Amino acid sequence: MAMKGAVQYEKRTAANGACVAVLTMDSAPVNALSAGVRTGFETRIAEALADAEVKAIVITGAHGCFCAGADISEFASGMSGPPLPVVINTIEASTKPVVAAIDGVALGGGCEVALGCHYRVASTRSQAGLPEVNLGLLPGAGGTQRLPRLIGAAASIDFMCRGAPLKADQAAKVGLFDTVVAGDKAAVLKAAVDFAAEKVGSDIGPRRLSGGTAKAAGVDFAKKRKEYDTLRKGEVAPQAIITCIEASTDREFTEGMKVEGKEFGKLMFGDQSKALQYMFFAERQCAKVPGLEAKPGPLDMCGIVGAGLMGGGIAMCAAEAGMRVVLLDVDPGNLDRGMAVIKKNYARSVDRKSKTQSQVDKIMSLISPSTTYDSLGQCDIVVEAVFENMDLKKKIFQSFDGVCKPGCILATNTSRLNIDTIASATKRPEDVIGCHFFSPANVMKLLENVRGPRSSPRTIATAMAFGQKLKKVTCLVGNCDGFIANRVMGVSGWTGLINGGLLPHQIDQAAESYGMKMGPARMNDLVGLDLFGRERANTGNAKPDTIVTDAMFAANRYGQKNGKGFYKYDDKLRLSRDPEAEALIHSVWKNAGATPKTMSDEEIIDTLYLPVVNEGFKCLEEGMASRPSDIDVCCVFGYNWPRYTGGPMQWASAVGLPKILEKLEAMGEKPSELLKECVKNNWRLNSKAFTARISSAWSGTWSKL
Ligand code: CAA
Repeated sequence: MAMKGAVQYEKRTAANGACVAVLTMDSAPVNALSAGVRTGFETRIAEALADAEVKAIVITGAHGCFCAGADISEFASGMSGPPLPVVINTIEASTKPVVAAIDGVALGGGCEVALGCHYRVASTRSQAGLPEVNLGLLPGAGGTQRLPRLIGAAASIDFMCRGAPLKADQAAKVGLFDTVVAGDKAAVLKAAVDFAAEKVGSDIGPRRLSGGTAKAAGVDFAKKRKEYDTLRKGEVAPQAIITCIEASTDREFTEGMKVEGKEFGKLMFGDQSKALQYMFFAERQCAKVPGLEAKPGPLDMCGIVGAGLMGGGIAMCAAEAGMRVVLLDVDPGNLDRGMAVIKKNYARSVDRKSKTQSQVDKIMSLISPSTTYDSLGQCDIVVEAVFENMDLKKKIFQSFDGVCKPGCILATNTSRLNIDTIASATKRPEDVIGCHFFSPANVMKLLENVRGPRSSPRTIATAMAFGQKLKKVTCLVGNCDGFIANRVMGVSGWTGLINGGLLPHQIDQAAESYGMKMGPARMNDLVGLDLFGRERANTGNAKPDTIVTDAMFAANRYGQKNGKGFYKYDDKLRLSRDPEAEALIHSVWKNAGATPKTMSDEEIIDTLYLPVVNEGFKCLEEGMASRPSDIDVCCVFGYNWPRYTGGPMQWASAVGLPKILEKLEAMGEKPSELLKECVKNNWRLNSKAFTARISSAWSGTWSKL
């Protein structure tokens, strides 16, 4: 089989007449450093060095970018061909000057290739980054050793541990790029060829970043470790990166490379990296809907009905994506309040310097407030975002019929009502779909598009394109109670634990040690115990599984909003255990016949999250999700499930499905039939047999369209 990717070779004449070899990494779409590219480098560098006519070398990339790094898809299947660190050593060792001509992104191994070159010339639109930390890895092709030698240990720690790329001007400022030139790929290539030709005969020794040691001035490594322990809680890669950078400051390159190699190996074979690589592909795959061939409709103008927190957040996302937005609320007071909140949010962004005033002015100019439905006439999509009342929603959808142009997508942001019932209010149910944003909509990355049984393929395709335009991680899900994220997370075993003898801090501590940003008790305090407590009290719908929460509500303990809930809060919202709350919980237990318990963290985590896994299997079984990774994406981006576990389904895979089944049965849970089928047939979640089984469930619901 032919190897994926290659390095193209051509000769160019520079302005001073010197002949320069141009080596172009060519592996669509992002020139990842596949075996073909690495082998190509070895051959082409040798060719350029052997050719007496060639005086210098330029390395560049095809397909509108320099290089996105190692080919991540090779990690799981095993690597062949020359290792990247060896290839980069070969580039750096060249006796002829080597210049990187960067146009577009130079990421990960791509940035390390650039660091192996003697000089770096980039276009203004270029970016350089070492994002390996986001894959649970470290820059393992000399990046942890060369970069600190170029820009110092202090800047390198933040650059690598944050994993965010630098824009060209910033990269030049820290010394990563030598020159930034205006213009396109042709301009940067010409500049790099001339630059390389001018360096012929100069001493390139000092330009090799494998010499000497890195400057450690001003770095307190212990402090940095602590900082990233908090910033990237639970992740192992940042600590390994700091270990390598520390090594770059006190030992020579080859010794530092040994540390890098050892740390890289530990990460590469660890569970976190496997889970994060899985998430990298899962995030991208969820936007691809199996069986959907329809083309999306236009998306220039968006109407939003309801100027509350959700509506305002969606308006911000749409305007930031460049769409013209009508924010409609029939109550002028609500509308004014909604617009004021948006302005306040943007004023904060300007204060924090995440946006400039002129960017904000441009965004605000795209949002038109309105109190009348006729303003929706030109919209390509309208999103209803009022509170959860079916009659009100139906009335709004009837109004859409009268004003929206043909083909306009009619979306509802409901988080729990039936899309089909809402669609029944209109004369065009085929245009109706759920666009379930998570709160706050301008911050949370997930969009669940909920297909109703009558949503047309064009409607689905347009809603998927809408999500991508808004830069959301967008998943298509089925029309079931709670859709995916709320449905699966809604069955977590939290109420069983809090009613059954565990105190809030015991449960939270276990959940947070698993990697949840917030344990369930803290989360309830944040959301507000009055939210559903009041509804239950008013409707008399108290259930045995809400006894503790309802007692909290009855005792006026609403959570953060009034300073007392499961915990007590000071005026800076710092929490502490509250003997009063705990006494109340004890009295509820006593009345219910429960006694205080202790459980290990593992038992608590299993009780909390194995039901979530089980519900995930049920969603697949019913054709409500098209693949396990979509469920993981919904939990990671909708509920901050720790990304480095890969989500509940990937976690179940890592633990092993037979073990999961055994534990669920021991807990007295009714396991999903699909999970039992997997165990019986020895299916893994990435096996062909399992994929075929769930595809048929998904397409079964699809064909009912
Ligand atoms: N390896 C394999 N495939 C990659 C890839 C990589 N490094 N980077 C991107 N791709 C693939 C994506 O999976 C996607 O494939 P599909 O079209 O089949 O879904 C395609 O390229 C396009 O990617 P995006 O959809 O993400 O396109 P984008 O334009 O939004 O973003 C990008 C492009 C900025 C390069 C982004 O893809 C990205 O950030 N890539 C990852 C960069 C990275 O993490 N590099 C480090 C790799 S690890 C490493 O290099 C280790 C080392 O030290 C040796």
